[in-house]
Amino acid sequence: MNPAPYTTSVLLIVLLGCLAAVSEATIFTCNATTTATCQSIINFKFVNASSYGNISSFFQVPLASILGANNLPYTTSSTGTVPGNTTLKVPVPCRCTNGIGQSDQIPVYIVQPGDDLDAIARNKFDQFVNYTEIANVNNISNPALIQIGQKLWIPLPCSCDPVEGKKVVHLAYQVASGNSVAGIAAMYGTTESTLLKLNGISDPKSLLAEQILDVPLQVCESSINDTSPDHGLLLPSGTYAYTANGCVNCSCNLNSSSMLDCSLASSRNRACPADTCSGNLTLGQSSGTGCGATTCAYSGYTNITSFKILTTSVTNQSTSCKSAATRHTGPAASAWMKLIVSLHLILMSLCFL
Ligand SMILES: *[C@@H]1O[C@H](CO)[C@@H](O)[C@H](O)[C@H]1NC(C)=O
Ligand SMILES: *[C@@H]1O[C@H](CO)[C@@H](O)[C@H](O)[C@H]1NC(C)=O
Ligand SMILES: *[C@@H]1O[C@H](CO)[C@@H](O)[C@H](O)[C@H]1NC(C)=O
Ligand SMILES: *[C@@H]1O[C@H](CO)[C@@H](O)[C@H](O)[C@H]1NC(C)=O
Ligand SMILES: *[C@@H]1O[C@H](CO)[C@@H](O)[C@H](O)[C@H]1NC(C)=O
Ligand SMILES: *[C@@H]1O[C@H](CO)[C@@H](O)[C@H](O)[C@H]1NC(C)=O
Ligand SMILES: *[C@@H]1O[C@H](CO)[C@@H](O)[C@H](O)[C@H]1NC(C)=O
Ligand SMILES: *[C@@H]1O[C@H](CO)[C@@H](O)[C@H](O)[C@H]1NC(C)=O
Ligand SMILES: *[C@@H]1O[C@H](CO)[C@@H](O)[C@H](O)[C@H]1NC(C)=O
Ligand SMILES: *[C@@H]1O[C@H](CO)[C@@H](O)[C@H](O)[C@H]1NC(C)=O
Ligand SMILES: *[C@@H]1O[C@H](CO)[C@@H](O)[C@H](O)[C@H]1NC(C)=O
Ligand SMILES: *[C@@H]1O[C@H](CO)[C@@H](O)[C@H](O)[C@H]1NC(C)=O
Repeated sequence: MNPAPYTTSVLLIVLLGCLAAVSEATIFTCNATTTATCQSIINFKFVNASSYGNISSFFQVPLASILGANNLPYTTSSTGTVPGNTTLKVPVPCRCTNGIGQSDQIPVYIVQPGDDLDAIARNKFDQFVNYTEIANVNNISNPALIQIGQKLWIPLPCSCDPVEGKKVVHLAYQVASGNSVAGIAAMYGTTESTLLKLNGISDPKSLLAEQILDVPLQVCESSINDTSPDHGLLLPSGTYAYTANGCVNCSCNLNSSSMLDCSLASSRNRACPADTCSGNLTLGQSSGTGCGATTCAYSGYTNITSFKILTTSVTNQSTSCKSAATRHTGPAASAWMKLIVSLHLILMSLCFL
């Protein structure tokens, strides 16, 4: 056998193997409940220069949500330039259906001249989906037959499931060359073992560039009531979002607090009737800092009889406070001992008199 064709065929097989692996979009498990919805995030690289407004309309995601998810100033203009190769977090509504999470009816892509489903999946949506998935959700029986102007729902991978018993926001992360599972875990505040388990990866070395990983992001605890229309609001650390019809601005920074930090939005342009907490604290105000401090926290809104923003008093009793309290018994007890010793000394001195 001539070695040349042999090498070529091996190369071909290897190449085909790579292509097959790369074109395989990932399914994110989503079995929270049969029809749960939530916010999920796509970590998307915009290869071509663009603007925030164009990105917002491309994904049909409000500009304010994109700005909040990337912690960009809320004053950022929709005409603001996004340079080529910028990666942005795009928040998308997610729906679980039959154990699979997919972006809920958005984005909708309008077929352009020269498009085919595979090119749309690869080039416009960076392989976060593949053509079979687009064909499936749009009931396209022959993927080769699409028409210019046709509207296609692009089902992006997402999830609403808690991870290891904790509420999280799921990030669809596209592996870049040079990434390692441990490196990605460190970048997003999770662990290698969590990522391996969640993504069903047995060998961390098998990670491929452009593969899509489900990365759970830590979120702030919230005191939003289950009866409020925004009860599912979860924010990853380092992000903000508006809620209660734009009246309330919430942010999460786990470096400074484990609680969602909400206050009346400074840009609110309508009547935003908010409850005050006991002690006349207004929404977002605190009686102090650290252990024992009371914060007037956001607990949702109601539209039932009239629009009203609800608050609740939250006292800081975090675990670090409890351990701090335990430690305090040490010095407190020794103070009593000193007092008792001093009393004895005084009594003894009295005897000498
Ligand atoms: C598309 O992705 C799905 C997983 O979501 C996979 O089962 C399927 O084989 C992929 N199709 C192609 C053509 O790669
Ligand atoms: C989802 O359901 C599947 C099958 O029932 C199970 O194997 C998996 O652990 C579940 N995932 C989560 C995150 O609960
Ligand atoms: C944004 O979209 C508009 C209309 O589709 C287009 O004319 C403009 O060139 C785009 N701008 C950028 C920076 O992509
Ligand atoms: C984006 O990155 C690619 C690959 O690294 C490069 O070829 C391209 O020129 C970059 N585009 C811009 C606008 O910087
Ligand atoms: C980027 O621009 C090039 C040249 O205009 C175009 O062919 C390509 O489809 C664009 N990529 C995306 C993701 O829109
Ligand atoms: C696809 O078909 C199913 C079942 O016939 C239907 O429920 C669904 O709405 C259709 N989806 C689209 C995008 O037309
Ligand atoms: C949630 O709101 C309902 C109705 O406003 C109230 O009865 C309930 O006590 C609230 N739950 C919590 C945990 O605050
Ligand atoms: C929290 O602190 C770490 C380390 O100092 C930093 O990298 C990260 O950006 C901070 N997070 C936020 C949300 O400020
Ligand atoms: C909302 O909160 C973020 C983070 O604290 C802040 O940067 C932004 O200015 C606030 N926006 C408004 C309108 O209050
Ligand atoms: C709250 O404010 C009202 C009027 O501004 C005042 O009468 C009342 O004493 C205040 N209550 C507390 C607990 O400070
Ligand atoms: C409560 O106090 C502790 C100790 O000062 C602090 O580390 C923690 O961030 C506080 N928690 C909140 C929710 O403010
Ligand atoms: C609540 O009421 C406001 C004002 O009437 C309205 O704009 C908004 O859409 C309502 N929100 C919900 C969730 O019903």
